[in-house]
Amino acid sequence: MTQKREILIIGGGIIGLSIAIELKSQGVPVTILSRDFSEAATHAAAGMIAPQAEEIPPSPMLDLCLASRALYPDWIRKLEALTGMNAGYWACGILAPRYQVSKGMLDRASILAHQRDLGAEVVGGYWFPEDAQVDNRALAKVLWMAAQELGIEIQTGIQVDRFVADSNITQLESTQGIWKADRYILATGAWSQDLLPIPVFPKKGQMLSVRINQADLPLKQVLYGEESYIVPRQDGRIVIGATSENVGFQKGNTSIGVHQLLSAAIRLYPPIQRFTLEETWYGFRPATSDELPILGSSPFANLTLATGHYRNGILLAPITAKSIAQCVLTEKADPNLEAFHWSRFS
Ligand code: GLY
Repeated sequence: MTQKREILIIGGGIIGLSIAIELKSQGVPVTILSRDFSEAATHAAAGMIAPQAEEIPPSPMLDLCLASRALYPDWIRKLEALTGMNAGYWACGILAPRYQVSKGMLDRASILAHQRDLGAEVVGGYWFPEDAQVDNRALAKVLWMAAQELGIEIQTGIQVDRFVADSNITQLESTQGIWKADRYILATGAWSQDLLPIPVFPKKGQMLSVRINQADLPLKQVLYGEESYIVPRQDGRIVIGATSENVGFQKGNTSIGVHQLLSAAIRLYPPIQRFTLEETWYGFRPATSDELPILGSSPFANLTLATGHYRNGILLAPITAKSIAQCVLTEKADPNLEAFHWSRFS
């Protein structure tokens, strides 16, 4: 059976959902085809909104990340108003303690004034008050609910196997038959190579969380160390990440991965050793060789790309949604996306 829609978004993670919500909010009907919502990197992330802590050098990428960070409060406010749900956005700032002295950094006493009980080896660091965090799992639920509220069609359990194309995509072959549309948007993250020869590959990240009594929250901001990051939620959960492994789609947490995360976190913030271990998990970042996303037009006139967000998918969701929706609606290239065009790899 062949199904026909106006716009098909392939991929139902944070990027696919955010683009769908932006387009539908502007009155355009969209359908999402999602294989398995639970596999998206969205769930695995820590939810840091951290262009400065991630030390992205001055570049179009930094501009894009800063623009997206600036969109966050309003974007979240609208989603929460639409759904009546809380996405756990917290403008908490990010502290970046360091083990070696480097240029322009605050000394140990100043860093300890932001966060007491840091490890003995911390010599100083940086404070980024404008970096923030969102509870990415809560945000995923909010986006899903916002999509429902807006009447966006989401087809789950569908694996798209193949694009059929001439100069345009003419149809998709999937586990649930043939799908056709006027326009297609690819947002399949680490799995993008299954459909197109673009260099997006999985970079596995293992994570874990510990928990502390909610009445006694000792961490009031994210700690972004040299070997690990520690992301406290307001409900007492503390997320610790993340490994960065080139092991393909190898599933599972490893003992060494968990060991490395815990020792790095305890070195950075020793009180972690007393908190209750709660959960371990992992996910696959959609990486590219230059660590930049692939955004905008594609080799096919009716296919737009929104993939390869690597470490910054949560951060870049609002600007990706806005820019990609604009590209689709105006059928014009966005000059701000020039640096992220797929053709840089050809
Ligand atoms: N954005 C942090 C990470 O990918 O581990």
